[in-house]
Amino acid sequence: MRVLVTGGAGFIGSHTVDALLAEGHDVRVLDALVPPVHPQHRFPQHLLDRGVDCIIGDVRDRKAWERALADVDAVFHLAAYQDYLPDFSTFFNTNVVSTALLYEVLVESGLLPHRVVVASSQAVYGEGTYRCSNCPEGRQVHPRLRKEEDLARRLWDLRCTVCGQSMTPEWTDENIVAPHNAYALSKYGEENVALTLGERYNIPSVALRYSIVQGSRQSFHNAYSGILRIFTQRILGGLQPVCYEDGHQLRDYVSVHDVVRANLLALHHDGAVGQAINIGGGRQVSVADFAQLVVKCAGASLEPSAPGLYRVGDTRHVLSSIDRAASLGWRPEVPLSDIVEEYLSWAVAQPDFGDVTTAADEHMRALGTLRHAT
Ligand SMILES: NC(=O)c1ccc[n+]([C@@H]2O[C@H](COP(=O)([O-])OP(=O)(O)OC[C@H]3O[C@@H](n4cnc5c(N)ncnc54)[C@H](O)[C@@H]3O)[C@@H](O)[C@H]2O)c1
Repeated sequence: MRVLVTGGAGFIGSHTVDALLAEGHDVRVLDALVPPVHPQHRFPQHLLDRGVDCIIGDVRDRKAWERALADVDAVFHLAAYQDYLPDFSTFFNTNVVSTALLYEVLVESGLLPHRVVVASSQAVYGEGTYRCSNCPEGRQVHPRLRKEEDLARRLWDLRCTVCGQSMTPEWTDENIVAPHNAYALSKYGEENVALTLGERYNIPSVALRYSIVQGSRQSFHNAYSGILRIFTQRILGGLQPVCYEDGHQLRDYVSVHDVVRANLLALHHDGAVGQAINIGGGRQVSVADFAQLVVKCAGASLEPSAPGLYRVGDTRHVLSSIDRAASLGWRPEVPLSDIVEEYLSWAVAQPDFGDVTTAADEHMRALGTLRHAT
């Protein structure tokens, strides 16, 4: 097949390109090479060396789609705007309008690709699913966003709105969605455009809701992603890893290699068509435990600290159920320690590796996104 990967110069995109080449496909990449991910505004050499057809273009531009979609058999739409900044319309223009343009050009040109896969996110769940064991029959709860005044007083945990007791986070399945920021709203919009127009116009489409993806080639300059980057940069610089809140937040980190296998499954498995599917790590890890693991793998002896910093709008715990993906034959395979070790050996070999964490934190503080509890 000839496969188009938008955002193919980025983290998940470039690993996906590798896997597609290994399967023998012709690969085309459409990428705008946007800063801060691409400070040099250049395609990665390994893509150019391997005969990938690299097009510089913006997914908000119809003409870029027209050029990139010529003769393609499948599309991975991974290019996206991801940030904490309050330029709300950029999220919708880049993530939703681009997806509408993709289908618009496909329908107009009469192209019927074998598959369109769009990248959605665990962010669509907001605070996810909890259970209150104190309420009759162990009530399941889908909480709203935490209140700023609670965070400012270090009241990190969500409490049941009926009985006021603390609740236990559960694995969140694909059925209940509660996006609570512009990025999450735009990702939910993107997947709705893809699945609805895909069904309406017989274009087999899949939306994958990735959890927090970790691995080599994650940009050092991206303030959004990268707990591994942040901890690694501090620990290798001899500084304590700093956890936001109390460090007890639960996450289900997933390896980029597992995500790439999920992408290939979505490309090939007809059972995936028409669905939104969670792709997560299937294990609960606290932020503080993750910091300890990075310390151990780096051979350092530092204790993680939790000075009471918090990011406005962050989720307390979020864990995606992977039952739907498992029913199609996918499960995460890469152990957490392998993710960390692979990342460490890749990161230290990069010429631009250095501590940008402090600058990123200062930037978030200036914007009011990162705050200090009293
Ligand atoms: N990394 C994660 O943890 C994670 C989690 C959930 C969902 N996702 C989704 O997966 C996808 C890939 O994420 P990633 O982590 O590889 O990001 P990334 O920033 O490494 O790569 C994104 C690529 O898209 C390109 N791009 C951005 N805006 C563009 C535009 N307007 N036109 C063309 N190209 C543009 C960038 O230049 C970059 O190469 C995104 O859709 C993201 O929302 C990522």
